[in-house]
Amino acid sequence: MSTHSTSPSGKMWGGRFADTTAASVEEFSASIHYDSRLYHHDIMGSKAHARMLARQGLISDEERDAILQGLSEIEGEIDRGEFVFKPELEDVHMNIESALTARIGPAGAKLHTARSRNDQVNLDFRLYLRDEVDVLDELLCETQKAFARQARKYLGAVMPGYTHLQRAQPVLLSHHLLAYVEMFQRDRQRLADCRVRINIMPLGAAAMAGTGLPIDRQSVAEELGFSAITANSMDTTGDRDFALEVLFCLNLIQLHLSRLSEELVLWSSKEFDFIRIGDRYCTGSSIMPQKKNPDIPELIRGKTGRVTGALVALLMTVKGLPLTYNRDLQEDKEQVFDALDTVKSSLAITTELLENTQFNVQRLQEATVGGFMTATDLADYLVRRNMPFRQAHGVVGRIVALCQERGCELTELPLAELQEFSGLIEPDVFDILSVDGSVHSRQSDGGTSRVRVEEALHSVENALGITP
Ligand code: ARG
Repeated sequence: MSTHSTSPSGKMWGGRFADTTAASVEEFSASIHYDSRLYHHDIMGSKAHARMLARQGLISDEERDAILQGLSEIEGEIDRGEFVFKPELEDVHMNIESALTARIGPAGAKLHTARSRNDQVNLDFRLYLRDEVDVLDELLCETQKAFARQARKYLGAVMPGYTHLQRAQPVLLSHHLLAYVEMFQRDRQRLADCRVRINIMPLGAAAMAGTGLPIDRQSVAEELGFSAITANSMDTTGDRDFALEVLFCLNLIQLHLSRLSEELVLWSSKEFDFIRIGDRYCTGSSIMPQKKNPDIPELIRGKTGRVTGALVALLMTVKGLPLTYNRDLQEDKEQVFDALDTVKSSLAITTELLENTQFNVQRLQEATVGGFMTATDLADYLVRRNMPFRQAHGVVGRIVALCQERGCELTELPLAELQEFSGLIEPDVFDILSVDGSVHSRQSDGGTSRVRVEEALHSVENALGITP
């Protein structure tokens, strides 16, 4: 219970209340069991606010110093796990302010001058998410490095590229791995873009209409490293777009991890046998002694559901809210925290998993045989000899049908027989019908030929600051 309240309700806001709050209401509305994780950013924001209040003559320098000292002590206690959060004080903001006033007396009661929890919570959340976005960027960078190292290690290895999960065209394994580097690069760009809108300072919107007291919002923004202040106090207190944007970014990251996980699950099956995941990253079966299961990628794939759930939940929370702050908005934090924890742990373990995965180069190579994967190359060969592409497609289709009938590969048809389909076919056709010839030929920008992939790998390594 708040020590400086004289109201029967015992609350810091209880002046007009004649009765105590029902225990069920306290329990139902408290957020301290999850928003306590904002304490560091709450204290950072309060310190900047107190310094501004002193600069503006709204509190004395002595009061400011007592507040700063008290907040530092409270932060130390929380860091060390000594601070007792009280559910009856609802949230992190009230718990800290109440402890401050208990500690330093009347100066503590001045901290909330020209401030409301409505702008305070918005500030805390932005400060917190700004740091989390930076952590995510580092984690994404580490995942990219793991992909780049594998791409370097297996440079030259060939594998089937798939469409519709059917063997389509031969590619370099490194090309496939570098595709994920691109996906995670877009995730990093998206986060950086979203950070621009997180990094706007909301304090001073107060309850929702601004304040009549002579505050200086710009100086608070500068002290806390924000690039600007929000423009409209009503928009500010009701705005959670920045949290929704973070959730969307988290969703695409998890989606990319999920697609990778699906491939790892497939590739580690006997049917594919493309990879061996290290024993330390697999689990066994409680009944089947022979089993080695890819539970980690399965769990990452499975956790995608809750990350998407978090986004949809917050979208629905905000939908239909009238301006400005409504208590519904307290539902924002748990969703975002859960999604952040899930994505961060998924990224970290994906990096470890990749570092502990071996590719079965021989098996990958064998899988490029069978399936007529160089059929497109044969069509391109005819096109280079001036046959219209549609006609070439038809010719090669008939050649494939013949091979299928005979149960042989394109390379196994004698030249004379190939020439019956088109007089344009000459002995050099066998160069392009081979897997290596096919890969080598794909030198278009962004293609899978060795020269293009080496260029791409080189530029990725440079960007990530890793040396092969
Ligand atoms: N715990 C609240 C939240 O997370 C803080 C703001 C409360 N504001 C209010 N007017 N009750 O949204």
